[in-house]
Amino acid sequence: MATQSVSPVLQPATIGHLELKNRIVMAPMTRSRADDAGVPPDYAADYYAQRANAGLIITEATNISAQARGYPRTPGIWTDEQVVAWKQITDAVHRREGKIFLQLWHTGRMSHPDMHDGALPVAPSAIRPQGQIRVHDGMKDFVTPRALDADEIPGIVEDYRRAAANAKRAGFDGVEIHSANNYLLEQFVRDSTNHRTDEYGGSIENRLRFPLAVVKAVIDVWGSERVGIRISPVTTSPGETPVDSDTMSTFGAYLSALSELGLLYIHDIEGVTQVSRETGSEVSFSELRKRFNGAYIANNQYTLSLAEKTLASGDADLFSIGRPFIANPDLVDRLRAGAPLAEAPKEYWYGGDSTGYSDWPDMRR
Ligand SMILES: Cc1cc2nc3c(=O)[nH]c(=O)nc-3n(C[C@H](O)[C@H](O)[C@H](O)COP(=O)(O)O)c2cc1C
Repeated sequence: MATQSVSPVLQPATIGHLELKNRIVMAPMTRSRADDAGVPPDYAADYYAQRANAGLIITEATNISAQARGYPRTPGIWTDEQVVAWKQITDAVHRREGKIFLQLWHTGRMSHPDMHDGALPVAPSAIRPQGQIRVHDGMKDFVTPRALDADEIPGIVEDYRRAAANAKRAGFDGVEIHSANNYLLEQFVRDSTNHRTDEYGGSIENRLRFPLAVVKAVIDVWGSERVGIRISPVTTSPGETPVDSDTMSTFGAYLSALSELGLLYIHDIEGVTQVSRETGSEVSFSELRKRFNGAYIANNQYTLSLAEKTLASGDADLFSIGRPFIANPDLVDRLRAGAPLAEAPKEYWYGGDSTGYSDWPDMRR
């Protein structure tokens, strides 16, 4: 039988000290199956283990504290019960020789009083997002969040530190700091959402102060070689959030500072997540990438052939794939075989139970 050559994207790769089976990363995807205490269900262990053929799995975004919550049925990592449930998931992935990082999340203004017993969500500044957010009983208008007092901010850094330590207890291989998609950290980074006049706002240095304090706290727990970060310099949803007035300078400075801290990788959503790979005229991801010495995970609408082209041109090290992993647990095997991909109806994306989540068959079953 003729042997086909294996795509370089599907061959083993090493980033930092992390040895991966291939260059495909399962992108973080919120699936809203946790209970109201933020505990993932038993069947989440099946879901993640079924996808352990990815070189690396990044979990769904996971709240670092009760204050961090923005959406119903999203998991957390601040209680012992949550840690125990995550440990079952990491054990299941490790039994299949997979690697799994936890994505650490604080939604900031992308939240609603319904998630906080009537209290306002917190943000760098009291600026209301446009549109609506999903709450327990449907969609509601966003509200104007409460601007954090400067003396509350060190406490949130400590919440990240505790979440990172809990992730370690839960057996993860590392953590990814969610600094993308207009959630709390990116709300501080962009001047469109940060109008503060204290040491956390104004200059780029000031806007980066809180996100970098978070990164340092997480590194204290894990060491820089086990910490990655996700960014999305031009993504505008949720909340129709405007981009920064000078994306290249702001994110260039951010990536230089992250590079100095020795982070394992940046995970970049190229374009508007799920929507378009257009970056806006003045934004160049290959230019931004030059500011960072670690590995680069590219994301957004990647196919195997686009990943192959991008790897060959040296523009990325790993490629994260989101939506195709929903209905194709054995995605890497299918890519290797050139097999057709199943598509998941959107009704299964968020909420529900194991149906449309951990019951998608492998192609050989
Ligand atoms: C159902 C769903 C949930 C998502 N949840 C998250 C999340 O929790 N954290 C995150 O950083 N991105 C999240 N994303 C964005 C994906 O990680 C990814 O950026 C996006 O789907 C584009 O990649 P793709 O074209 O390969 O699907 C989500 C996307 C989808 C479809």
